[in-house]
Amino acid sequence: MSDSQPSALITGAGSGIGRAAADLFAERGYAVALLDRDPVGLQETAGRINALGGRVLSLETDVASWSGVGEAVSATVNALGGIDCAFNNAGVAGQGECDLHDVTEQDFDEVMDINLKGTWICMKQELAVMVRQGYGSIVNGASVASFVGFDKLSAYTASKHGIIGLTKSAALEYASTGIRINAVCPGVVDTPFTTHFTGGDATAEQRFRDVEPMNRFAQPSEVAHAVIWLCSREASFVTGTSLMVDGGLTSR
Ligand SMILES: NC(=O)c1ccc[n+]([C@@H]2O[C@H](COP(=O)([O-])OP(=O)(O)OC[C@H]3O[C@@H](n4cnc5c(N)ncnc54)[C@H](O)[C@@H]3O)[C@@H](O)[C@H]2O)c1
Repeated sequence: MSDSQPSALITGAGSGIGRAAADLFAERGYAVALLDRDPVGLQETAGRINALGGRVLSLETDVASWSGVGEAVSATVNALGGIDCAFNNAGVAGQGECDLHDVTEQDFDEVMDINLKGTWICMKQELAVMVRQGYGSIVNGASVASFVGFDKLSAYTASKHGIIGLTKSAALEYASTGIRINAVCPGVVDTPFTTHFTGGDATAEQRFRDVEPMNRFAQPSEVAHAVIWLCSREASFVTGTSLMVDGGLTSR
């Protein structure tokens, strides 16, 4: 990690888990680069960090765009001097719960382009910076769906399984270079992403809660704390791991 003010690049920072991570990194003294395709969400997160007196860069970016991510990474390096930590968190659920034979090719491609290829695009460009620096830490936003199957969510589940493959392979490739790469795997988190499935309906929400051994959703900040730990010096011998933040869901 750099000795000057550390920097963190966070994708999907305009909502939910990404916003909570942006808040936490800023509270802990990081300069933050916020990437999201939603300008309204970005502005709201940036406003929160400005209010904390934090240093923030807002970059409207589609993580599925090679050139868009390239511009955002260059802007981050120019403004913040480098990238100490990157949290590749942006993701989508796709068209919702649907049997595989009804999933459209367009939906499958969109989920893969954002969740899996988007993570690869971000990693590739962040790693180029980190290799030059000789240090860095990447956390990829995975899921419990990286380890267990979810019926009616085949494209999403496949994309999240793929993120673990990218994480493990890259961790090995860069292990001796001072760059660590891990994944965080949340269970059900209280964000708009979850509302997308429940439609805010109380019965549907309870069905999701019933899946969780703690009988509640995670708060986005509970995931953010795992991410900042994975990025920290305290996790200096941790690479290639998948940290479950799932309230015990995958221990069933
Ligand atoms: N909420 C959950 O229960 C849960 C559980 C496990 C994993 N996750 C994962 O956590 C991550 C964040 O989810 P969340 O719950 O905070 O969701 P969210 O919908 O609240 O936030 C996702 C953010 O990503 C942004 N985004 C989507 N596509 C993008 C793109 N192409 N380029 C840039 N930004 C884009 C959205 O605009 C949004 O601001 C996702 O990868 C999701 O798969 C969520």
